[in-house]
Amino acid sequence: MDGSMKRRDFIKSATFAGAATMLGEGLSGIGQVAAQSKTAIKPVVISSQNGLKATARAMEMIKEGNDALDAVIACVNIVEDDPNDMSVGYGGLPNEEGVVELDSSVMHGPTGRGGAVAAIRNIKNPSKVARLVMERTDHVLIVGEGALRFAKAHGFKEEDLLTKESREVWLKWKETMSTDDDWLPPHDLDSKDIGEGLKSAIRTTGTINCNAVDLKGNISGVTTTSGLAWKIPGRVGDSPILGAGLYVNNEVGAAGSTGRGEANLLACSSVMIVEYMSQGKSPEQACLMACERIARQTKMKRLLDDQGRPKFNVNFYAINKRGEYGGAAIWSGPRFAVNTGEVESRLESCAYLYKREARN
Ligand code: GLY
Repeated sequence: MDGSMKRRDFIKSATFAGAATMLGEGLSGIGQVAAQSKTAIKPVVISSQNGLKATARAMEMIKEGNDALDAVIACVNIVEDDPNDMSVGYGGLPNEEGVVELDSSVMHGPTGRGGAVAAIRNIKNPSKVARLVMERTDHVLIVGEGALRFAKAHGFKEEDLLTKESREVWLKWKETMSTDDDWLPPHDLDSKDIGEGLKSAIRTTGTINCNAVDLKGNISGVTTTSGLAWKIPGRVGDSPILGAGLYVNNEVGAAGSTGRGEANLLACSSVMIVEYMSQGKSPEQACLMACERIARQTKMKRLLDDQGRPKFNVNFYAINKRGEYGGAAIWSGPRFAVNTGEVESRLESCAYLYKREARN
């Protein structure tokens, strides 16, 4: 069989025959996934469950020939703009003082570049600002007041991100607050049972992560969030930290996360998932390994149930260069949104380490 025959066969098996191109250059010697990826390109978009509708828009953009980064950012912008999603952007739940602070990161596989903002106030699309940090500065992460000033310098308008609904939920928490905050009393660092009454481990952490492979086989990702509800002002979670809440390697794949950011900051989960995939693990297996890593690393009694399992949940979403995808969570229940070229996206269940019973 000559070269042109092989090429035709590959194109025939592509998800999008008309647009399929071949991978090839520069992929040798970088692990099993890359070696096996010299096949037809299969575009895919994956996100956390709250991106069900928005992932369909991202796939539409990919089919139109857009770069994966444009598609994933357009996807999460829909959720950032939605006042009914109280975990992201406009209408996100605020910090303990009633102020919304947002975190976001982006990573562009083909150029190996990334950008992020953390604890930014009054700007409803932090993912767009994160992209500008990547494109218009020599930095990767800008935080707080500096991030707001940077956004304003690029023409972003300040607006109050607290909706009537999110303010009312915050007020209810404030009015019924007892041990439900993040402050710990002085204690011996060796003590494993400090702060056992605190509920921060199981408090709301929404977020959206979205990753995609485009028609050229390039990979990008984004994570954006209002973070942990009622957090200490200035608290930064995993979402804007490349390697923790998001990581992309254009020759391997991408991974991102939602859930308890503190666990990911300590485990550097997203970069680990991409590394596990580079060693030949499927996206789902790699996500499960990240869950196991967190379970092994969590030692504080206040974070563990009576069987020594983490009380909190962390969810992971991953894709590889071949367009394979998967998700996993520490506890059963979460689902992820995926689109492999259809008009409508679908939800699939995350694999899990522990099955959630009625009350744990
Ligand atoms: N994973 C989102 C956060 O902890 O802020």
